[in-house]
Amino acid sequence: MPARPLAAGNWKMNGLGADLAEVETLLSGLAASACDVMICPPATLIHRMAELARGTALGVGAQDCHAAQSGAHTGDLSAPILADAGAGAVIVGHSERRQDHGETDALVAAKASAAMGAGLRAIVCIGETLEEREAGQTIEVVSGQLRGSVPPDADPAQLVVAYEPVWAIGTGKVATTDQIAEVHGMLRTVLTEHIGAGAADVPLLYGGSVKPGNAAEIFATADVDGALVGGASLKASDFGAIVAALGSAAQA
Ligand code: PGA
Repeated sequence: MPARPLAAGNWKMNGLGADLAEVETLLSGLAASACDVMICPPATLIHRMAELARGTALGVGAQDCHAAQSGAHTGDLSAPILADAGAGAVIVGHSERRQDHGETDALVAAKASAAMGAGLRAIVCIGETLEEREAGQTIEVVSGQLRGSVPPDADPAQLVVAYEPVWAIGTGKVATTDQIAEVHGMLRTVLTEHIGAGAADVPLLYGGSVKPGNAAEIFATADVDGALVGGASLKASDFGAIVAALGSAAQA
């Protein structure tokens, strides 16, 4: 794992104030680790979670941002606003936003630029649908999304790429390690063509039904530098086990 590995939890539209107790439990077992650890809660919890995580190894991220710095966009949050609330990163282009809100690669790239401009790490998500995989289009679709969603002038130190096959998200269906290795190897090559040699330092995360029981196998796969974890990040015991598996893989 040349890039520093990252275990990022995506709480999606889950999390009330009471759920911060899970973060306290996670923090109690989180030693200085061989990997980075982050949770992306709903925006309403960013500030409180950042306060809880202050001085610990836990980073806090957001789940989306607007492409503009500020302005007349009722209900939206800009990257500077998220940074001000305590976020150090933001997920952009998650497949649920591409589906629910019609987000295009160009919009995702604009959001990633805005995030980096505000000093945040941009976690850019890409992944094929089941129909695309069955039609043999996975490599073409995912490489196209990568080129379209990552700004060519992206700072590698502020970039994370998450490969999340849409058919594996929240379904319990995990891509095989051969499928993951094929896509991640391609991603490293295309990212190097796209942003230059700094691509070697960009963590390539896998996402889609990562659980304590399959994490070690996924983290042992070539070119996998961590995971973006949805459902299993909501419970400190599950997410802690995934973080521990990544820490062991990083030291292996
Ligand atoms: P899941 O979600 O782990 O619940 O499949 C992953 C994601 O959407 O980031």
